[in-house]
Amino acid sequence: MKEMMQKLREAALQAILETEDVDSLENLRVKYLGKKGELTGILRQMGKLTAEERPQMGQLANQLRSELEETLETRRTALNEARLEMKLLQETVDVTLPGKKQPQGHKHPMYNVLDQIKDIFIGMGFEIVDGPEVELSDYNFTKLNIDEGHPSREWTDTFYFTEDSRICLRTQTSPMQIHAMETKELPIRMIAPGRVYRKDEVDATHSPMFHQIEGMVIDKGVTMSDLKATLNLVVEKIYGKGTVTRFRPHHFPFTEPSCEMDIQCHKCGGKGCPTCKGEGWIEVLGAGMVHPKVLAGCGIDPDVYSGWAFGMGLERLAMGEYKITDLRLIFENDVRFLEQF
Ligand code: PHE
Repeated sequence: MKEMMQKLREAALQAILETEDVDSLENLRVKYLGKKGELTGILRQMGKLTAEERPQMGQLANQLRSELEETLETRRTALNEARLEMKLLQETVDVTLPGKKQPQGHKHPMYNVLDQIKDIFIGMGFEIVDGPEVELSDYNFTKLNIDEGHPSREWTDTFYFTEDSRICLRTQTSPMQIHAMETKELPIRMIAPGRVYRKDEVDATHSPMFHQIEGMVIDKGVTMSDLKATLNLVVEKIYGKGTVTRFRPHHFPFTEPSCEMDIQCHKCGGKGCPTCKGEGWIEVLGAGMVHPKVLAGCGIDPDVYSGWAFGMGLERLAMGEYKITDLRLIFENDVRFLEQF
């Protein structure tokens, strides 16, 4: 039996040292040391030994097992190292090759315009505020002096969430006026840009979702001339010095008096061209003096405080600035379009 083990040892050691890959090492382990392996086969014959011989053989077998296991492990490590070495030698990296270019995006053209406007208002001490797009009809309409039965409250114009018309997607950023007056210390100078929603069919100038910027000032002694001066300044910063504006009387339930501001077409100088649809003027925003009823509803004494507000469409502004002729291009996010800015 001792001889059998001796033979097994020699054969196994030689086989292990001659092996060139890790997989066949594992096969050798199974062959010699596995459950059905050769060493086990030899040990099965222990029954034939005398009681004295048995422990001796047992010890020898254990020694042999440890020796073979160690040799296997050493060989495995050596083979792995050699393989890594080979790999490193073969797979040299050419560090002079150009890298893979990741196409880099940039800000959406409409947000360029928004950032420009934010900068202008921040420069005048305004605060930028943000508010909910899902709004109580109370804030979108009632507190803005828009009575029950007003056409803009119709289900055909507004997205409602509840049968009782209590909750809707805001149709304008004007509810931000109410939020600001209810929560902020006076005086207030703020703009509130954001998404608004109306049940409009999509075409070149309409989308059920678009962006507005609300602006509002509340202080003592604020007048319509403050409104005009501020908006004229903003227009000059966007369209250049000397841009002519006009303020036309208009009606909004939450401002009194109300107006719309037009700018003289910067393309044709007022003569009439495709940009201004032959009008010579381009409508830019709605504005007015915050209605005393609205002030009072927010707990502000209209005899002490007054204020102005405006709301303008952001897409329209971006379309004017970048000469975009179809509103849908702004939302489609086609890189061939966006790349151009
Ligand atoms: N919210 C109005 C609109 O969507 C614009 C507006 C804002 C008018 C503030 C006056 C004051 O048309």
